[in-house]
Amino acid sequence: MLDISVKAPAKINLTLDVLHRREDGYHDLEMVMTTVDLADRIDLTETSSGISLESTSGFVPHDDRNLAYRAAALIKKRFGIQKGVHIHIHKHIPVAAGLAGGSSDAAAVLKGLNRMWDLGLSVEELAALGLELGSDVPFCVTGGTAIARGRGEILTPLPSPPPCWVILAKPPHGVSTAEVFGALRLEDIRKRPDLDAMVEALRNQDFDGICRNLSNVLEEVTIPAYPQVRRLKERMIRFGGEGVLMSGSGPTVFGLVRRENTAKRVVNGLRGFCRQVYAVRMMGGLEANT
Ligand code: C5P
Repeated sequence: MLDISVKAPAKINLTLDVLHRREDGYHDLEMVMTTVDLADRIDLTETSSGISLESTSGFVPHDDRNLAYRAAALIKKRFGIQKGVHIHIHKHIPVAAGLAGGSSDAAAVLKGLNRMWDLGLSVEELAALGLELGSDVPFCVTGGTAIARGRGEILTPLPSPPPCWVILAKPPHGVSTAEVFGALRLEDIRKRPDLDAMVEALRNQDFDGICRNLSNVLEEVTIPAYPQVRRLKERMIRFGGEGVLMSGSGPTVFGLVRRENTAKRVVNGLRGFCRQVYAVRMMGGLEANT
């Protein structure tokens, strides 16, 4: 019997800045994140005990290496739940892509189990639990558009971008976030995002301003290691991408365009060059997380 189904949308970074390295090994970040209409679906079925997981993707582990599995284990342990759950992940978000797919799956499990087991947890409490699983999970619990600071858990909601299309192109290789942060030399960062300008552009629903202010310091690490990311960016711009950036630690590149026709042109221009290409709608403003 299917009990609960939860949507787990991908996120992109409109800006990403790394402020400094912390004593605990993490970095203090300052970034603007927004959800896009590319989502996994998580079906949760109550069982008598234990946790089991299946997925439509061959690329995700089915045990406690999977963040969604760990989310269920955390809830069971923290609240002393004897019942079990079967998690079925219908995977649509590329894996190890810089799109927070695994974090969003985990957030969806937290939200779904909160309902299934009547735990009565608030969004803030779910986000705090999420931080125990990964830095992007709190944002994935709340969704929408927000400035994320600290490890990623200090969230300030923002107006979402105006309606537009987002082209996502994922090179064949995955990228390890830990390796990218490990290779980042803060003293070498040349260009930092202008957070105020991005916030202003979002407040004014200024599409061109958003495009002009897209900026991610992690490009300086990932692009030299994976030149295909730069080529993808160049190609996206050539075919009509109005604002183009790598998301998170990469390697996915996204392009923003206003018109559907342009979105089609960019997608066609990338086919043959990159196998995983999607054109989806920006969805920060819509309720993405139910
Ligand atoms: O929190 P999460 O497990 O997603 O982070 C993965 C890795 O990314 C961490 O082990 C760390 O190396 C790096 N990271 C960081 N600072 C952050 C978030 C992530 O250094 N704020």
